[in-house]
Amino acid sequence: MIREVLRMGDPRLLAPALPVQSFATPELEALLDDMRETMVHLDGAGLAAPQIGVALRVVIFGFEANPRYPEAAAVPYTVLINPELVALSDEEELAWEGCLSVPGLRGVVPRWKRLRYRGCDQQGNAFEREVEGFHARVVQHECDHLDGILYPMRIRDLRSFGFTDVIDAAPVPND
Ligand code: NI
Repeated sequence: MIREVLRMGDPRLLAPALPVQSFATPELEALLDDMRETMVHLDGAGLAAPQIGVALRVVIFGFEANPRYPEAAAVPYTVLINPELVALSDEEELAWEGCLSVPGLRGVVPRWKRLRYRGCDQQGNAFEREVEGFHARVVQHECDHLDGILYPMRIRDLRSFGFTDVIDAAPVPND
């Protein structure tokens, strides 16, 4: 079922989410089905459970090609539960991000360039991956939702924040 995505200003987006204790349950499967359907319907690159009002440490992400991020390389569809992230270097990257909870806007956000993430799938099987670039960015963005952090809170220069249609229509400087 496609669920309503909460928008910035809703206090539920600012609350820390709780770890999942029971895996392979019908409730968890139903939550993941709803999250996937909602993400695909809205062309999202990822979605966190708190965005649909469920305060659990569950995120999904992945796409073959995404109209919201036309330059991003494909990211495998992933269910990540109770995630832990570790940076693999101090190196950061700046890039544009949007969020289904902040519709119509976009901003330049610093993220770790390379990281390792660990967590469980819906069966409770632990896995880990080392990733970089857009994959690393999506994981950081989605996992931030589990701690009540929305990407505008991470923007360092608010001049690089604005409405997507205005940014797209603006002339490129020095071009
Ligand atoms: Ni988001």
